[in-house]
Amino acid sequence: MTEQRLSFLENLAANFGKDAVTSRSKAWERIARPEQLPPKGDWLVWLILAGRGWGKTRSGAEWVADMARRHPGARIALVAATVADARDTMVEGESGMLAVLDDRELLGGRDKAWNRSIGELRLANGSQFKTFSSEKPGRLRGPQHNFAWCDEAAAWEDAFRGTAVETTWSMLQMGLRLKALPGWPADYRPCATVTTTPKPVALLRVPEHVLARDASKAGICQQATTTTTGGSTHDNLDNLSETFKTAVIDRLEGTTLGRQELDAQILLDVEGAMLDRAQIEACRVNSSEIQQGIRVVSIDPAVSNNDDSDETGIVVVGFRSGLDDSSGYGGHGYVIADLSLRGSPDTWAHAAWRAALEHNACAIIVEDNQGGDLCENLLRSTMDAIASEERRQGIRRLYWPPLERVHPSGRGAGKWARAIPIRGLYEQGKIHHVINPDNPAELDQLEEQLTTWTGDSKQKSPDRVDAMVHGLRWLMLPSERKSKAGKGVANLAARRAAAGRR
Ligand SMILES: Nc1ncnc2c1ncn2[C@@H]1O[C@H](COP(=O)(O)OP(=O)(O)O)[C@@H](O)[C@H]1O
Ligand SMILES: [Mg+2]
Repeated sequence: MTEQRLSFLENLAANFGKDAVTSRSKAWERIARPEQLPPKGDWLVWLILAGRGWGKTRSGAEWVADMARRHPGARIALVAATVADARDTMVEGESGMLAVLDDRELLGGRDKAWNRSIGELRLANGSQFKTFSSEKPGRLRGPQHNFAWCDEAAAWEDAFRGTAVETTWSMLQMGLRLKALPGWPADYRPCATVTTTPKPVALLRVPEHVLARDASKAGICQQATTTTTGGSTHDNLDNLSETFKTAVIDRLEGTTLGRQELDAQILLDVEGAMLDRAQIEACRVNSSEIQQGIRVVSIDPAVSNNDDSDETGIVVVGFRSGLDDSSGYGGHGYVIADLSLRGSPDTWAHAAWRAALEHNACAIIVEDNQGGDLCENLLRSTMDAIASEERRQGIRRLYWPPLERVHPSGRGAGKWARAIPIRGLYEQGKIHHVINPDNPAELDQLEEQLTTWTGDSKQKSPDRVDAMVHGLRWLMLPSERKSKAGKGVANLAARRAAAGRR
């Protein structure tokens, strides 16, 4: 840095309209809850692990704004999951930089100070913010910073890779090393705040056995230089809108996902379970990914119908192959919806048909055993009932998906053995849980079963998992298809889907 620029900055720092500036910091200190203010101590990372709507973004923005004020000429990185998140939430959002900074602090006013095409925000005191995203982590290679604010880091694209080299996190850390400028407070050190709702990703925490083997893999929560604060969505209830309360809180309250999204608990993995949460998290996709491809409804019927009888697992799964490959092995499987219920045979048979027709399923999958016979008879009579009802209403349906059989799973150990190949496909990243934008908790209970079922015969039978496993086996392991017709159905449906003529 040239002498000239230094003296310019010192000058600015000394003379800048301090009143406006300090009053903004003071205003936040007055209304912030204690956990929203930087903790004491010489931490390098301040992690705010809190529920949705807790005030994470606001706390992060207020902290970096304060750092920028107290360290004129500072270089600050703002890092989000996507380019759009960095711009729309971290800078332009209701709790973002432009909202917490006073217009008088911006260099040449709002329009000049914020260059949204290059993602740069300049302050009159010489401090500068630059936005980055986990979509383009390579941009963090090179630039150096004094401070950083990382928003929703658990949702970064490479969060499941943890703190490994070449990740957004590690590249940011490499560049977080600029020295103090003259006149800065003596306690200056390059440091960062991470504000996020937790997810079971390695960036936050790795399993204990991994940590024991290799301490360098420690997630942010597990590092000695991190100080963590946070809390539950309910802490900020007074400042949240009614729509947020109904659209987000009411929906998640009392669900497993709610423990994560509202109470900020990192959901723990069960040793020896079929899957761990990180595996599911790493392969989640948006619904746009399954516009093409085929779907089936898969059923695991309950044998009795009373209060403590099993649920009937009803799960919609899908498959997408390469263009001419309908063999199963090469493609990807999708877990789309879980409509499992506890109810009379009539209730679940109707629910299954509704799902099949709504999802344009190419088949309904049941097990090839006694339960399967029962199930098939019931589904046939229910189909007749629905068809005649529709005829009365003048609806003529040309296609009814056929009922297809898969090899039965048997009891106890048999179920586990049959689920293992599906676990293998998860491990290869070939099975994806599809995010339902209208109901983020859609797969919650299924995922709870997947991550707690260990195959132990003393455990309750995981009906949802069972149904899912039948369906995915039928779609992805073609030797499972019992009937010639079944093979034909899948091939035809796959070819139609590939040609976009569904
Ligand atoms: N201590 C507080 N006092 C007043 N309003 C607050 C406080 N903390 C947060 N807010 C407001 O609550 C809303 C949600 O905060 P936000 O930071 O966007 O939440 P999050 O990032 O955790 O989802 C915003 O309007 C924010 O300005
Ligand atoms: Mg936020």
